[in-house]
Amino acid sequence: MQRKGIFRDTNSLYLTWNEYASTKFIEFARKYAGKMVLDVGCSIGAYSYKLNALGFDCVGVDYNSEYVEKAIGKGVEAYKMDAYNLDFKDNRFDSVIMFEILEHLEDPLLALKEAKRVAKKNIILTVPNFDKFHELSTLKLTYSDVLEDDHRNFFTKNEIKVLFNNISENNIIMVNPAMVQITGYTLDELTKMKASDLFSVLSYKVKASSRASKLQNRIETMKQPYDSRIIREDGDERIIQIVDSLLPNASAEQYLLIHTVVRDVTKERQASENIRAYATRVIDVEERERQHIARELHDETVQSLASLGMDIDLLLKNERQLSRKAIECLVELRERTNDLLKGVRYMCRSLRPLVLEELGLCKALQWLASEVRDQSSIDVQFEVLGSSRVLSPEKDLTLFRISQEAINNVMRHAQATMVRVKLEFGLEHVKLVICDNGQGFELPEPNTDFANSQRMGLMGMRERARLLGGSLVVLSRLGEGTTVTLELAT
Ligand SMILES: Nc1ncnc2c1ncn2[C@@H]1O[C@H](COP(=O)(O)OP(=O)(O)O)[C@@H](O)[C@H]1O
Ligand SMILES: [Mg+2]
Repeated sequence: MQRKGIFRDTNSLYLTWNEYASTKFIEFARKYAGKMVLDVGCSIGAYSYKLNALGFDCVGVDYNSEYVEKAIGKGVEAYKMDAYNLDFKDNRFDSVIMFEILEHLEDPLLALKEAKRVAKKNIILTVPNFDKFHELSTLKLTYSDVLEDDHRNFFTKNEIKVLFNNISENNIIMVNPAMVQITGYTLDELTKMKASDLFSVLSYKVKASSRASKLQNRIETMKQPYDSRIIREDGDERIIQIVDSLLPNASAEQYLLIHTVVRDVTKERQASENIRAYATRVIDVEERERQHIARELHDETVQSLASLGMDIDLLLKNERQLSRKAIECLVELRERTNDLLKGVRYMCRSLRPLVLEELGLCKALQWLASEVRDQSSIDVQFEVLGSSRVLSPEKDLTLFRISQEAINNVMRHAQATMVRVKLEFGLEHVKLVICDNGQGFELPEPNTDFANSQRMGLMGMRERARLLGGSLVVLSRLGEGTTVTLELAT
């Protein structure tokens, strides 16, 4: 009856302390159970014991005989029994409780059927909490609902009937009130609809592509949660975030029920869309502004500093007319002017990397690396792999700017001693990796969401990559450094 191994595997995932009776579950039972109760999967009898103390007549059954003995030792009437074959007459109990049991069974619906056979009034069931939902589905555990206040925590007999009778593909069987708000339809309207009426074409294709096994495969391999669109009663489209899982069909190995948890994320997504559009614009303006400032600096400041230097040189030529002190001052002035000139020239080149236009990407990156080496104590290594070739000016600029920003971040935030810049030319793509050994940082969740977390530098990098159809991945862990990887088709 039990899935071997799985029980142990999931033990740490959620609450399975068998001595512990959740007060929330006891509350369900008090509220909804009749006097005669069967506790399926009673373990060592914690719930039965508690319910008996509250005036119920509770009998427990469990597959594990050691547990059953312990339950009996506690004074609970308990039996070793298989949940699929309960050794009781029909309607012997008012209520059957199944607390966190279904997810351990190979065939939960079969167990539900059996529970239904012996229950006069209702079945009360719970499954593990929503936080662990995803982990459980990756372990291929199925379960019928989630333990959250805004979801259904239990099924009454009537609801189970609906569940059994309506198992046909694409029909919406049950929804909770939150869906009314999201869709604008009433509960009644919703349960008469097909999923395809509600989900826009794209997401319906996902769902309909599917005879059962395909669907199962699809859902298991799909990234969850994922975004989709829903069409509201008023015709409006909303962006929703979905978590899917499958409920098994009792008779076949096939899965025909999809349990979908939907969250309206339209506002969040639109906000980040706006920020992205803004960022794209900023990149453009910033690039032009940089060119402008670079030109000003070059034409004005650099020229003035250069001529200041020459004037000092001129003065120094008349050495004999100057006191020793004056000469020392002038020499020092000359040095300071040179340093200034060097600094401003570096700024010019970073702002408007002519080296990129004149000598190409590899030389420009080499130059960048050598500048960082000069300015900091960071060991910068730059290497080119594959046979380098000329890329378009936009691609060159994007690769250069992303390297610049990533390296700046290393200098400003990483406290690294080393950074490696690797430029790899493949047959049809180019890959840039900037990897440091610094302190790392916490990435936002999801880790692509720089827009909503005020990380404009990282976001600018991503947007630059996106504008050229490339992808940028940032990996970072506290204490383990940061790696930025950009891939561009060439
Ligand atoms: N290489 C890195 N090492 C450590 N922390 C980093 C690194 N790159 C980025 N960060 C972290 O991410 C944040 C966002 O970076 P970014 O978007 O470039 O903004 P800014 O550099 O203006 O702070 C930084 O403030 C820093 O905390
Ligand atoms: Mg930055």
